[in-house]
Amino acid sequence: MRILATRRLPGEAWEELSDVEIGALDGPRPDVEALIVAGDRVDGGVLDLVPSVRLVASYGVGYDNVDVDACRARGVAVTNTPGVLDAATADLAMALVLAVRRRVVEADALVRAGGWGSSWSAGPFLSREVSGATLGIVGFGRIGAAVARRARAFDMRVLVNRRRTGDPDYRELDELLRESDVVTLHTPLTSETRGLISRERLALLRDGATLVNTARGTIVDEDALVAELVSGRISAGLDVFAHEPHVPDALLRLPNVVLTPHVASATEETRAAMTRVVVDNVLALARGEPLPTPVS
Ligand code: DGY
Repeated sequence: MRILATRRLPGEAWEELSDVEIGALDGPRPDVEALIVAGDRVDGGVLDLVPSVRLVASYGVGYDNVDVDACRARGVAVTNTPGVLDAATADLAMALVLAVRRRVVEADALVRAGGWGSSWSAGPFLSREVSGATLGIVGFGRIGAAVARRARAFDMRVLVNRRRTGDPDYRELDELLRESDVVTLHTPLTSETRGLISRERLALLRDGATLVNTARGTIVDEDALVAELVSGRISAGLDVFAHEPHVPDALLRLPNVVLTPHVASATEETRAAMTRVVVDNVLALARGEPLPTPVS
């Protein structure tokens, strides 16, 4: 079975694939039966290039890069890598909460620039307490739940936007935005969540609140977010952006923003585990077995 991967994936499981070619899909490839992509767009035009393809195996839990309807219409299966990146993503979300609230990056820059005063009590370099703060989690799936466990260990009060019967922590989205000191996003990008955190909803955030986004940039109205951050009214920890790898210029100069380059799942352990899931799906296809993680 001919496999085309847009890049080599890390981890030992990769070696179990035979007959895998690494390269861009930049012309017709009627021989390819399995396509492995990592964030690359797969739409009808791409599918036209691979008329024999039976599987698009996407490296990542979010699969908004793949036109699943176009795949389904052609009988092409789609798989993703759920479950194995929850901890790494939740860790980075908490890292951003801590970095922004405690001004870790600013403090580091101050020390490196020789700006530290004469003692530990030097000057008005004050930050915001994480313990006791209210964390609003938008999207309470596996990753959101992993963030909640971490936040509770930091003595944060947790509010969630996914209702379970009688859940006292549940809040409607607007209410959650109003009530939280820190809001962290963990919804997939779908037609319903695109632009979910609109200009109007950003305005609901408290003065001094922090928005953390490790999900997808276009869940937020990025222009409105930039305006709020430039005004200094709120702060943010951002791992994802609307037009990656472009980061709005205005953000690069702001002290109230911590920026990372879409690396929430980028640990050696997690990326190897994601490769394992991709390889298992491709091997299952080759053996005619059920795919372990089909996108429903
Ligand atoms: C994911 O798994 O969805 C990561 O964001 C990488 O795309």
